Amino acid sequence: MKKKIAVVAGDGIGPEIVAEALKVLSAVGEKFGHEFEVEHVLAGGCAIDATGECLPQSTLDTCKAADAVLLGAVGGPKWDTLPGAKRPEKALLGLRAGLGLFCNLRPATVWAPLKDASPLKPEIIGEGLDVLVVRELTGGIYFGDHIRSEDGQSAKDIMAYSVPEIERIARMAFDAARKRNKKVTSVDKANVLETSRLWRETVTRIAAEYPDVELNHFYVDNAAMQLVRDPKQLDVVLTENMFGDILSDEASQITGSIGMLPSASLREDGFGMYEPIHGSAPDIAGKDIANPLATILSIAMMLRYTFGLLEEASAIENAVAKVLNGPLRTGDIATDGTTIVGTKAMGDAVLAAL
Ligand code: IPM
Ligand code: MG
Repeated sequence: MKKKIAVVAGDGIGPEIVAEALKVLSAVGEKFGHEFEVEHVLAGGCAIDATGECLPQSTLDTCKAADAVLLGAVGGPKWDTLPGAKRPEKALLGLRAGLGLFCNLRPATVWAPLKDASPLKPEIIGEGLDVLVVRELTGGIYFGDHIRSEDGQSAKDIMAYSVPEIERIARMAFDAARKRNKKVTSVDKANVLETSRLWRETVTRIAAEYPDVELNHFYVDNAAMQLVRDPKQLDVVLTENMFGDILSDEASQITGSIGMLPSASLREDGFGMYEPIHGSAPDIAGKDIANPLATILSIAMMLRYTFGLLEEASAIENAVAKVLNGPLRTGDIATDGTTIVGTKAMGDAVLAAL
């Protein structure tokens, strides 16, 4: 097949990790006879420097016209003093909203050879850990009005959800659970928030369409606790935008290696933006030490979810597994007895394993 991919390498380590992922993408193309045409566009801090805007219209247009988007990371200390609406992070929110990517899939998986990296006791992790956070991505408090009073002495952020917004993300979570361990844990704060009561009501109604999938509900504070107390009880965690932001960071840490975790942000028609869940890590940018595996694994998610290329996606994941079964590690996942390599060498190792 022939596909067009818009690439937002972004800031910090973004360009380095994206370069490795694109090497892997083109190798998969060659191996399986696909043509992936890549177009680089600017967003985030680098776009502010070049154009004055964090998300130029031309970037959004190119992304809209593409078949999928690959994103490295945006942001950095250089732009941290800009007002909220002008910050690089706004580019990410603009892409999510502008492309209609309401469904964020964040798998937190422990890779067997990296089991020791988890800060949790081995008996809590068990034979592995595999939680999929399904985060609503274009609604809630992120996209409600953010208001500061005229005298500057008070502020409010509006959290809003509509039934259709909850229904569509719930269906994505139940569909995902069907392909996994058939359990959805919906997370809300229904003991306090009206949006959460609507969330719980709606999710419960949608669950009736999926009698083969078990549903339970946790308040978000309890969910945060259960995630470290007994993560094995969780399969798919379905939640709204801000709770998902917080819980997915927590979930990533229990795998012990945030440098390993990919993500997909999807729309109902399968179009998606793919990115590692870690940030731009400005402190290690340009040093050839960042872990490119999360971005490489994001390519695997792109092949699977947007292009339906299951064999190709598995080929990448198997290549990563093969590399991890050997001694090579980037610094963030290195342990005694392993050999530390840089970003490029890790990308090359995956290529060789492919
Ligand atoms: C994430 C990030 C973003 C978010 C920031 C950078 C706006 O934390 O993707 O989880 O809060 O959604
Ligand atoms: Mg976050």
